[in-house]
Amino acid sequence: MRVAVPRETAPGERRVALVPETVSKLSEAGFEIRVERGAGTVAGFADEEYAEAGAKLVDGPELLDGAQAVVRVAPPSPEEAAALAPGTVVIGFLNPLADEEGLARLRERGAIAFAMESIPRITRAQAMDALSSQATVAGYKAVLIAADRVQRLFPMLMTAAGTVAPVRALVIGAGVAGLQAIATARRLGAVVSAFDVRPAVKEQVESLGASFLDLGVVTEETAGGYATELTPEQQAQQQAALEERIPDFDVVITTAAVPGRPAPKLIPASAVEGMRAGSVIVDLAAETGGNCELTVPGEVVEHGGVTIVGTLNVPSLMAFHASQLYSRNVAALLRHLAPEGELALDWEDELTAGACVTRPGDPT
Ligand code: NAI
Repeated sequence: MRVAVPRETAPGERRVALVPETVSKLSEAGFEIRVERGAGTVAGFADEEYAEAGAKLVDGPELLDGAQAVVRVAPPSPEEAAALAPGTVVIGFLNPLADEEGLARLRERGAIAFAMESIPRITRAQAMDALSSQATVAGYKAVLIAADRVQRLFPMLMTAAGTVAPVRALVIGAGVAGLQAIATARRLGAVVSAFDVRPAVKEQVESLGASFLDLGVVTEETAGGYATELTPEQQAQQQAALEERIPDFDVVITTAAVPGRPAPKLIPASAVEGMRAGSVIVDLAAETGGNCELTVPGEVVEHGGVTIVGTLNVPSLMAFHASQLYSRNVAALLRHLAPEGELALDWEDELTAGACVTRPGDPT
C-alpha cells in the first residue's frame, strides 16, 4: 500500500504526520511511503533521515501518484482535497464536528476519510488516540508558557535573601491535558489545585499531589468518559464560585471542553479583574472559543495587568515530540486498516467504522 506524507500547509502547523522512526517500521511491514520533500524539516526531521528510513522523497504531483492513503496533521486545503483521486484514504485531524465544508469536499472527491478525533476511546484503540497524545503535549507546554510569562518563581525557595512563596496554580478541566498540566506544574514546584465537573477525576488529581477544588458543580459523564454540557444555571454557579476562588491563584491553566460544543465560558471578566496584576491565564480551550470571557483565540492579551494567553495549536510549538507521538498514533491506525500492508477495511469493526467520517456511498 502506498502512503503519501505531505508537507503541512495550514498556517502555523509545524508538525508532520509520519516521522522517520515510524516510516522505517511501516516500510518493514510492507507499506511504501512517499514523503514530500521538506515535510519534516520544521519539526526537526531531515529529508535524509526519511530516505534512510526507507521513504521515497518526492515533489509535486508525484506525491499523490498511485497513493492509496494520504496521512496528514491538519485537514487538506480545498486545493489539496481537489487533487485526491477517488477512493483515497485520508487520515488526519479533520475536525469532523465543526468543519462541515471540509468534510463535504472530501465526500465530493469520493475519499475514505478517517478523523483522528473520531477514533473511539476504547482500550484497543489507545495506541491511536491522537487527542490524548497531543493533549499531553499541550498540557505540558501550557505550564511552560505560564512559567515564562508569570513574574514569579514556581518553586518555594529558601535563600539568604529570605523565603520565596511558591506559585499557586489552578488547573480547570482535569482531562488528559489538565492532568499533564498538574504534573508539570507540580514538578516545577507550584502548589496546585484543580477542578473538573466529572467527580471521578478527584482521585486522579489528588494522586498527582494537587488538591481538588470543590466548586459544587457536577455533571454526568458520557459512556466515552466525556463531560456533558452544563445547564445555564450550573454555568452561572461555576462562574460565581470561580470568581470567589480565582484571586488566590497566580497561574490558571484552563482546558475545559465538551466535544463538538463551544468551550464553556467559565472565567468571566469580573473574575479576571479580581486577580493580582502579573498573574497569567493560559487558555488551552482557545481552540473552541476559550474558557475565559476575555480570551482572544490566537492572541495574547492583557487585562488589568493579567496576561491571557489564547495561543492556538499549542502542540505544534513542540513539533518534534508532538509529531513523534502523532506519527505512532497514525501508524497504529494504518496497521489496523491494512494489517498485511494492503487495505482491508472492515466496516463491521467498531474502530474502523467509528473513525470513518465519510466514504463513497455516504449520503451527501
Ligand atoms: P476534553 O478535552 O473533552 O475535556 C477536558 C476536560 O474538561 C474533561 O476532563 C472534562 O470533564 C472537563 N470539563 C468539561 N466541562 C467542564 C467545566 N464546565 N468545568 C470544568 N471542567 C470541565 O477531554 P479529554 O481530556 O480528551 O478526555 C476526557 C476523558 O476521556 C478522560 O479523562 C478519560 O476519562 C476519557 N479518556 C478515555 C480514554 C480511553 O482510551 N478509554 C483515553 C483518553 C481519555
